[in-house]
Amino acid sequence: MRKIAVINQKGGSGKTTTVVNAGSAIAEMGQKVLLIDLDPQAHTTIHLGFEPFKLEKSVYDVLINDTAFDEVLLETQTKNLFLLPAKIELASAEIELVNTIGREIILRESLKKSKNDFDYIFIDCPPSLGLLTLNALTTAAEVIIPIQAEFFALEGLTKLVQTIQLVTERINPATHISGVLITMFDKRKNICKEVAERVKKHFGDRVFKTKIRENVKLAEAPSFGQTIFEFAPNSHGAEDYRKLAKEIIMGGEHEKKRTRERPSKLDHIHSVRETKEKGKSRSKGHSKI
Ligand SMILES: Nc1ncnc2c1ncn2[C@@H]1O[C@H](COP(=O)(O)OP(=O)(O)OP(=O)(O)O)[C@@H](O)[C@H]1O
Ligand SMILES: [Mg+2]
Repeated sequence: MRKIAVINQKGGSGKTTTVVNAGSAIAEMGQKVLLIDLDPQAHTTIHLGFEPFKLEKSVYDVLINDTAFDEVLLETQTKNLFLLPAKIELASAEIELVNTIGREIILRESLKKSKNDFDYIFIDCPPSLGLLTLNALTTAAEVIIPIQAEFFALEGLTKLVQTIQLVTERINPATHISGVLITMFDKRKNICKEVAERVKKHFGDRVFKTKIRENVKLAEAPSFGQTIFEFAPNSHGAEDYRKLAKEIIMGGEHEKKRTRERPSKLDHIHSVRETKEKGKSRSKGHSKI
């Protein structure tokens, strides 16, 4: 089972669009896929055509009321694609859990008890690095960071990388950044090319070759409660997410090799390189990103 959290505390970077469309592309290729909506905005839930206020149970009940994971699971319109939905009440979960022991691993423990087997799990996170995102990081082994190709895109990335490293060191040694995805890319804009180059310079071969182009169909699909493959299967958006899905699946070989090695080896090499780079840039008084 590949467990992938899609995280960026910057709002509107393409997390939900990626979870829904990369997830459904992989489901269409015949793999069993679960999407977990860990965002109180419930955008993944809405994107898949559900009305959150009509749902009896949600991921909130799993986190707060000890409801079994399998009791909350929903089938979607896409074959092989399942959803653990969210509702707005999830917004108060972080406060309600403040005195709960083990509050950062509730999702992981609940998933362990599930009788369902999935090939892929994608977790859509809220635009913050709070307890909900922490639950995603302790559940997942892989992290995909979508980055919108625009001016403020790189702000806050250092904090995100540090948070992931802390989780790796203290709670879940398996957690690591497996992919960085450029979203809303427009090759005619210099700023897009510049952001893509800087991201590549910092994250190297962890950046997906596929860039998700800016595509109006991707922005329209959620309001119809459809994935891009239902809404506009021949659009650039559908083409890009199919390509990304193949890259994610191919990355599985690399992931298997990685787990056979010491779990945090690659991150260690990376952080040593980072330290060297930091040393160089310290004299300039700023870090790379
Ligand atoms: N490639 C794209 N081209 C055009 N519009 C896009 C593209 N990807 C996403 N969008 C639109 O941009 C907006 C933000 O995308 P999305 O909701 O996926 O980001 P997010 O990171 O999940 O946001 P939040 O942090 O609020 O959860 C949405 O309206 C979405 O439909
Ligand atoms: Mg979202």
